[in-house]
Amino acid sequence: MPVITNIEDLRVLAQKRVPRMFYDYADSGSWTESTYRANEADFDRILLRQRVAVNMENRSTRTKMIGQDVAMPVAIAPTGLTGMQHADGEILAARAAKKFGIPFTLSTMSICSIEDVAKETGNHPFWFQLYVMKDRPFIENLIDRAKAANCSALVLTLDLQILGQRHKDLKNGLSAPPRLTVPNILNMMSKPRWCLGMLGTQRRQFGNIVGHVKGVDNMGSLSEWTAKQFDPALSWDDVAWIKKRWGGKLILKGIQDIEDARLAVDSGADALIVSNHGGRQLDGAPSSISALPEIVEAVGRRIEVHMDGGIRSGQHVLKAVALGAKGTYIGRAMLYGLGAMGEEGVEYALKIIHNELDLSMAFCGRTDINTVDKSILLPGAH
Ligand code: GLV
Repeated sequence: MPVITNIEDLRVLAQKRVPRMFYDYADSGSWTESTYRANEADFDRILLRQRVAVNMENRSTRTKMIGQDVAMPVAIAPTGLTGMQHADGEILAARAAKKFGIPFTLSTMSICSIEDVAKETGNHPFWFQLYVMKDRPFIENLIDRAKAANCSALVLTLDLQILGQRHKDLKNGLSAPPRLTVPNILNMMSKPRWCLGMLGTQRRQFGNIVGHVKGVDNMGSLSEWTAKQFDPALSWDDVAWIKKRWGGKLILKGIQDIEDARLAVDSGADALIVSNHGGRQLDGAPSSISALPEIVEAVGRRIEVHMDGGIRSGQHVLKAVALGAKGTYIGRAMLYGLGAMGEEGVEYALKIIHNELDLSMAFCGRTDINTVDKSILLPGAH
């Protein structure tokens, strides 16, 4: 067993242990993947200011996201098909998040259902991410199910009315459960841990959907399902309608532009997430970290601004917080941990990120994450 010291170690292990179709689904962006790469690469342009001989005792990364206490300004991002990276993946990741004291966000496109996650985590509150589909009674029902499961925030994704093309998913024929073609069977046979896990669980389909939408017992490929079911006509009127129906904390995900950020403020949402969907939707859009400062400048006093995209280390979290993000999200960093080692792997990922955040904050001369601002960055370097 290799010594795991960073998120890249977990990624390498996940690539060995997860069938290619699902590993590729996580580790890819749309079209040329330029935005996907920029999300991570652009963090390198932001330089930290080292301070010395500052008392670094008694440090704390504790803060709040949408008024909820968090052990660090990091939440688990909603990621589709998490239960295909590892059997019962959503439940395991939710347990690791609960143990660590950060929010877990369950995707609409999860394998474990809302009810399963609630039951298996002792009804500990988690966040639910909503995709809007044409079938509005189904959406109303999903919102009601999230309420009944004690979810403490709704994360409404606005940047996936249509799906960006990811070449690998089309070539691999991505579906859940995977189709039993000869290449798929051969590939899965080389991943015995994954197979054993999957044989030991009943959760192998989209748990929030199958059995809840009339006539859906097999969703075919993700790209076909999205094209048929997701609502390309989604509008700000729908946001208002969803806000009213939900009645709790609302976070709008997928904002990249100042005009949209202002509309998000007008909608009365509690927070917005500066996000390009991990570089999986509009390739050619700016990285999230480069879009963040302008949006904070425009609306940061009127709405809580979060960000996701490219976060693979605690230093990335620190830089995002310095540029005004009140919270960040990890998607792939969590999935790599999960694919590598299940619940323990997600715990590893969280500990790695926390440790890097804590030490880097101290090197910058700060002991409390709530005091971190632009002054820990070298001027002109962002
Ligand atoms: C959405 O769920 C995606 O595949 O990016």
